[in-house]
Amino acid sequence: MSSKIAKRMQDISSFYVMALLNRAKQLESLGRDVIHMEIGEPDFPTPPTIIAAGINLLQTGDVKYTPAAGLPELRQKIACFYQSQYAVDVAAERIFITPGASGAFLLALGISLNPGEELLMADPCYPCNSNFASLYGAIARSLPVDADSAYQLTAAQIKHHWRGNSKGVLIASPSNPTGTLVSPEALQAVVQTTNALGGCFYSDEIYHGLVYGQTVATALQYSDDVFVINSFSKYFGMTGWRIGWLVVPEEFVEAAEKLAQNIFIATSTHSQYAALAAFDPETLAELECRRAELAARRDFLYAQLLRLGFTIPVKPEGAFYIYADCSRFTDDSYQFALDFLEQEAVAITPGKDFGSHHAHHNLRFAYTTTVDKMAVAMQRLERFINKG
Ligand SMILES: Cc1ncc(COP(=O)(O)O)c(C=O)c1O
Repeated sequence: MSSKIAKRMQDISSFYVMALLNRAKQLESLGRDVIHMEIGEPDFPTPPTIIAAGINLLQTGDVKYTPAAGLPELRQKIACFYQSQYAVDVAAERIFITPGASGAFLLALGISLNPGEELLMADPCYPCNSNFASLYGAIARSLPVDADSAYQLTAAQIKHHWRGNSKGVLIASPSNPTGTLVSPEALQAVVQTTNALGGCFYSDEIYHGLVYGQTVATALQYSDDVFVINSFSKYFGMTGWRIGWLVVPEEFVEAAEKLAQNIFIATSTHSQYAALAAFDPETLAELECRRAELAARRDFLYAQLLRLGFTIPVKPEGAFYIYADCSRFTDDSYQFALDFLEQEAVAITPGKDFGSHHAHHNLRFAYTTTVDKMAVAMQRLERFINKG
């Protein structure tokens, strides 16, 4: 690496799946019909009601900065959403509109983590979080999790691993890559344990709304002393609009305001106006249809992968991912993904994008494409395995 590049970049990793994506694009340009099951966004367009609200604002031409914390009416709508969805009171002043959950993380970790402090998280988990911690000079400490805890950190594990420089705990439920949930009781236990240890608790709730037949709790039901990260990207179908939100504990409001002013000035104005339509009954009705479609896709893919001999120790109940153990077929899931793409033109994500614990024995399949396309992908997978 060039000596001009900041040393901290040595600790920032890129995604292995990018190599696969580049190859997938090359194959497509050569005329191959690539099926994408690596992508973390469904094939649905943004709901028309949201698009219309964004266009209305753009047509006024009045696309100025909003307050750093976000449009007051949007913060208020989110506060009402917490009341209607989870029956919790959250003051709108604690809600910050951010450029996606990614911006929410940058803000949350920036106002709470000192250099050298540890952030405990699960392995496997969404990889950007550990990179954000490194960016602030903090230490991401990944703790291996297995099927017995639905791939989620437990209160006992947090207590056991907590030490002098530990500062925070991050949980994502539903999880990326496993699609598994932390139960309300287990969430309460991890929140209360972290609070009792004097640490910061970060709850990544970006896949809330995309849960199939289970109850999901927000960390805010158990404590006001938590950071909650959420987004309009996934459930609301707004990935490219770059808008999400962060709920901070009362004592962090001023710090969050100050850092948001500096790092973002504000989240994109038309996206905020568009998001005002996200909670309209018409939009929510459309989103619920999509959720039903995703549930059907999950059922299809889950059954197919089991039929083909993959092991899925915990049935995924949320998000749009299945994390499948492929040890029956390979000891190198990355090579498996590369070969599968090359030979059968189906893109999936290797386990090592999410950590190191049993990563070489796992693959993440995203059901972000139609059942018809997945059916073809499964035929190709069957042929690929049988060749192997
Ligand atoms: C678990 C998790 N958290 C956060 C993000 C960031 O999402 P965004 O910045 O689009 O809101 C993602 C994106 O895939 C994710 O899977």
